[in-house]
Amino acid sequence: MTASTTFNTHFKQYLETVQVKGNAVPTGLQELLVAVADTCMTLSHEVAQGALIGLLGSAGTGNVQGEVQQKLDVIANDLLIEGVKGCQSLAGLASEEMELPVAVQGTGDYLLLFDPLDGSSNIDVNVSIGTIFSVLKKQDPAAPLQTTDFLLSGRHQVAAGYVVYGPQTTMALTLGDGVVMFTLNRVTSEFVLIKESVEIAHATKEFSINMSNMRHWAEPVRRYVDECLAGVGGERDKDFNMRWIASMVADVHRVLSRGGIFMYPWDQREPHKPGKLRLMYEANPMSFLVEQAGGASTNGDQLIMDLIPTDLHERVSVMLGSKEEIERLQRYHA
Ligand code: AHG
Ligand code: MN
Ligand code: MN
Ligand code: MN
Repeated sequence: MTASTTFNTHFKQYLETVQVKGNAVPTGLQELLVAVADTCMTLSHEVAQGALIGLLGSAGTGNVQGEVQQKLDVIANDLLIEGVKGCQSLAGLASEEMELPVAVQGTGDYLLLFDPLDGSSNIDVNVSIGTIFSVLKKQDPAAPLQTTDFLLSGRHQVAAGYVVYGPQTTMALTLGDGVVMFTLNRVTSEFVLIKESVEIAHATKEFSINMSNMRHWAEPVRRYVDECLAGVGGERDKDFNMRWIASMVADVHRVLSRGGIFMYPWDQREPHKPGKLRLMYEANPMSFLVEQAGGASTNGDQLIMDLIPTDLHERVSVMLGSKEEIERLQRYHA
C-alpha cells in the first residue's frame, strides 16, 4: 500500500503544520512518514487478526541475524517495503530482516531503516509487539546506493519512531524537536495526536532487564541491579519494581510513558558481540526518542547516538531511560 489520500488525514495535517525548531517538515519527509504510518496501520489490522488470517507461527526461514523468522517478521518486512518503495523522496531502505539494503525508484535522498516486527517471541502469545523506524539522509544524493550510505551515527537521524501494537496501537515520533504520540482510531483509520512534549522523569524506581542473564552480565550492570534489588536499607535506600516484556517497543513505550530504565547490556554469552540489540534498527531510533524526551541512552562507555557504525547489522549494549539512572550506570562503567 502506498501513501493514501483516503485516510490518515489527521497525521498528514499534523506533519503539514508542525514546526520543527521553527521550520516546516520537508515535504519529502512528510511523504515518507505518512507511507510508514499507513503501512503500520495496515499491519495493526493484520496483527489484530492473528490466527484468523494464519499469521502466527514460524516462517521456517532464518535471517541475517541468525534468528528463526516468524511469519509476521516476513509479512511486516514485505508490507513495509511495498508501502514505502513508491516514495519519491526515498533513496533506499534497510531492514533487520534483510542482509543488504534495497535501492528504490525514488529520486530523493532519504534512507529508511526499520525493525519491521519487534518482539518476535511475543507474536504467538498475544503480547504487545511493534515496528521501529529510523530516517537518515544520504550524504551524496547523486551516487548509487551503497551499504556504507547507511553507516551514519544516530545524530544524523532526521526522524525516528515506533508503533506499538498493544491494547491500543500507538506511534511515538520524534523529528528532533521533542516526542509526540498518536493512537490509532480504528473506526476512522486515523492516527490521532494524544500526547505532545513527552518527558521521561529524571528519577525512577523501575528497571527493565532480562534477569535470566544475570550470571552473564559485566560487573557494573550486576552492581547496578544488585543495588536496585537491595531496596530500602540498601545502597539506594528505595524499593525498585521490575518489568520485562521482551518486546523492546513495549518496554521503551513504558519508559516513555511513566519513566524507568531499560537495559539489554553486553553479556559474556557471545563475548565478541557487543550486545543483542541492533544499533541501526533498534538502539539508534529508541535513543533518539529517549534523548528527545529528556532521557539518556548509553552502551556504558559512550552515548549510543555518538557511536559510528561499521556494520549495518551491528549489535550494541543498550541502557536507556531516566537520566539519573543512566548517569549512575555510566559512573559504574567508568
Ligand atoms: P526482534 O523480535 O526484533 O528480533 O527483537 C527482539 C529483541 C527486543 O525486542 C527484546 O527487548 C529482546 O529481543 C528480548 O530478548 P530476550 O528474549 O533475550 O529477553
Ligand atoms: Mn528478530
Ligand atoms: Mn527488535
Ligand atoms: Mn524484529
